[in-house]
Amino acid sequence: MEIVIVPDAAAGGELIASAIAELVTRKPDALVGVATGSTPLPIYTALTAKVAGGLDVSRVRICQLDEYVGLPAGHPESYRSTVIRQVVEPLGLSEASFIGPDGTAEDVAAEAIHYDRALAEAGGVDFQILGIGTDGHIGFNEPCSSLASRTRIKTLTEQTRVDNARFFEDDIEQVPHHVITQGIGTILEARHVVLLATGANKADAVAATVEGPLSALVPASALQLHPHATVVVDEAAAAGLKLADYFRATYAAKPSWQSI
Ligand code: PGA
Repeated sequence: MEIVIVPDAAAGGELIASAIAELVTRKPDALVGVATGSTPLPIYTALTAKVAGGLDVSRVRICQLDEYVGLPAGHPESYRSTVIRQVVEPLGLSEASFIGPDGTAEDVAAEAIHYDRALAEAGGVDFQILGIGTDGHIGFNEPCSSLASRTRIKTLTEQTRVDNARFFEDDIEQVPHHVITQGIGTILEARHVVLLATGANKADAVAATVEGPLSALVPASALQLHPHATVVVDEAAAAGLKLADYFRATYAAKPSWQSI
């Protein structure tokens, strides 16, 4: 894993957006996996600025990491609606270039299998953006998810529902219990996985992910198995890292031509 410590969330967003811009220049129809939540917003802001500055994303395809089960179609907090609002519209993409699981499907188990297959048929994910839960989840793979899991239905922990209540008028009762999420095994198939974590409330999860043992108890630690995983953290989220000085020195010594 490469660990990059940045001064703040905006710098993390800029770094990751630059890596996506390089990818898209190299591969105009790249499949980019997007994440929801508050953390990735600076990435989308920086990417939107690059598009305004001339970056051509007209052939880029995007895919969703996870989705709530049971919210009515078009609910503003469904992840489909969120991605359309935060990514598809600002980047000027068409909804046809966006794939994701249908959280309103009657047969959720079949929908999950169908989505897993759709990702493979699309040629696989080139660049997967990830956030991390305070409990160490990636996607909605909660603690003790199988490290080999495929896209499937999961039950959210109480902690995740508390964390996400802010998107539902601070009312935990409105936060769904179930989700469809790419599995850890599915996420690990992306060619480049980039996790952004910002803020002091992520410091413990980041330390366990990067320096702790590989463990299903900390789903993000599965990234230790990935040949090209990048963890971008701001100073607050880096606070628990014992090897922070080493990570800083390594990144400072990196050749300028080499991207993350
Ligand atoms: P957040 O969510 O970016 O809103 O903190 C991260 C996650 O749950 O993966």
